Amino acid sequence: MDTRVIGIASGKGGVGKTTFSINLALQFAAMGKRVLLFDADLGMANIHIAFNKSITKSLANVIDGRATLEDIIVNVHENIDLISGGSGVERLADLNALESSAIVQSFSSLESNYDYMIVDMSAGITSQVIAFMASVQLKIIVGTDELSSISDAYGIIKVLSMKQILSDLVYIPNRVSSPITGKKLYENLNYVTNKFLNHDIEFIGSITEDPIYSRAWQADNPASIISKNTNASAEINKIAREIENHQVFNTPNNNSLQFFLTGIQVN
Ligand SMILES: Nc1ncnc2c1ncn2[C@@H]1O[C@H](COP(=O)(O)OP(=O)(O)O)[C@@H](O)[C@H]1O
Ligand SMILES: [Mg+2]
Repeated sequence: MDTRVIGIASGKGGVGKTTFSINLALQFAAMGKRVLLFDADLGMANIHIAFNKSITKSLANVIDGRATLEDIIVNVHENIDLISGGSGVERLADLNALESSAIVQSFSSLESNYDYMIVDMSAGITSQVIAFMASVQLKIIVGTDELSSISDAYGIIKVLSMKQILSDLVYIPNRVSSPITGKKLYENLNYVTNKFLNHDIEFIGSITEDPIYSRAWQADNPASIISKNTNASAEINKIAREIENHQVFNTPNNNSLQFFLTGIQVN
């Protein structure tokens, strides 16, 4: 079975990408799905912290031939493994053909191990982020109601539009005061993308401001968070189910882990 690949981006940093990636992974894990979290936040990789693990090797070691992909994969939770991209994320872009095919091969060998790969990206509209977004199947932009977050979310959508990679693009309003304000935030952004880019973005739910959801960072056992009966855990559960049923994963195509890696390198 192919691994479903999801990318998580934002214009502005600090809006909740990583917290979302972790909680989404926990939801999928609880649903019995096997998840590979790819920490692609160059220079600021921090997912391991939420799971109380230390990271000694990253993708850069695999590219250098000093480690295999299996060596750098860390099991962080039942059904969740982590790959830390580190500076390897930057180097992915300029591999020679031989290195590149070796990396693609080793990623492909993981294909049967995971139901989902979640790629947690750096903030901002770097060429790396754009290449990642072009290579994932479901593209998720996380944003808050801060003006700078809204304008930066629009900024990244505009760049994706110029590159014609707007399909299956979801906007998830985060830290909102209620589902109604979340929907409203989506509608406002969608109005603008519709008017100026002639494109509708998708809505699969929003996430309310919730200290328990965000406590994934401090918990010794982040899984306990999702079992808590809070608004955010119900919302993220709904979002996970929307993703599970999303049409991009339920129509035949060639996208997979291998496509992801090949895509990054040709972009
Ligand atoms: N829904 C939420 N409710 C409360 N706090 C949140 C929520 N989402 C994120 N946060 C908090 O916002 C901060 C930034 O989140 P983080 O996931 O690190 O953002 P990013 O990865 O986009 O830089 C963290 O302290 C996190 O706990
Ligand atoms: Mg982050």
